[in-house]
Amino acid sequence: MSVLTLKNISLTLNDKKILYDVNLEFLSGKIHALVGPNGAGKSSLAFTIMGLEGYRKFEGDIIFNGESLKDKSIDQRAKLGITLAWQEPARYEGLTVEKFLKAAYSPEKGLKPEEALIRSGLQPDRYLKRAVDKTLSGGERKKVELASILAMMPEIVMLDEPDSGIDVESLERIFDAIKVLKKKGSTVILITHSLKVLEHAEDAFLLCCGRLMEKGSGRGMCKYFKGKCIPCNHQNVPEANDAK
Ligand SMILES: Nc1ncnc2c1ncn2[C@@H]1O[C@H](COP(=O)(O)OP(=O)(O)OP(=O)(O)O)[C@@H](O)[C@H]1O
Ligand SMILES: [Mg+2]
Repeated sequence: MSVLTLKNISLTLNDKKILYDVNLEFLSGKIHALVGPNGAGKSSLAFTIMGLEGYRKFEGDIIFNGESLKDKSIDQRAKLGITLAWQEPARYEGLTVEKFLKAAYSPEKGLKPEEALIRSGLQPDRYLKRAVDKTLSGGERKKVELASILAMMPEIVMLDEPDSGIDVESLERIFDAIKVLKKKGSTVILITHSLKVLEHAEDAFLLCCGRLMEKGSGRGMCKYFKGKCIPCNHQNVPEANDAK
């Protein structure tokens, strides 16, 4: 069953067309990947789904559980159960990891803050009292953000480049955490250009120059991406392709 449907999404930012008529369906409880080279439009698509400032004016519609998100603010979308973990995780000066996780915690379905931290690869006794600021490394902040998602267990989880800045051993933990999300019923959207992340997806979509180019299984897309996209020297700049 489709939980989130994108209908003919086109997006223009600063007179530059970023997304062209994107149609996509994300199925309830599945792990999806949105893959594509740098500048393909993956993060822009996630920002549009989340309703970030500057991404609210788009053509087409986004349907979540049968309801249009078009007129909903970012807060309303978050309340409905849509979350985005940023490519560059946010910092919250003065807020401790413990307070940050407690604020996210949903007692009905989420993991308790300590368990969420362990599942994300961080030891509670070392991290709960730390501040979610620049004193945490980039990888640590990414793990804290993942822990907050496990504590919340939202209906839709978009993880923008969950592997960036993450060491090889920790990456396995992140894949385990993604499995926990699925087990608890969350629909996962992994945004990536990593073949390793792509392998963990059930359904995958390839975006190039703001256009949806391919749909398929994670493994099938892995082969396609490795064989066709990585060797491709085509410039992923939307205007450059308009001119061709
Ligand atoms: N506010 C903006 N104004 C103009 N162009 C923008 C704006 N935001 C993004 N772009 C452009 O839109 C295109 C898509 O960017 P986006 O960040 O969505 O790509 P991406 O697929 O997430 O890439 P990456 O893998 O590098 O994270 C890029 O060419 C980018 O320069
Ligand atoms: Mg991006």
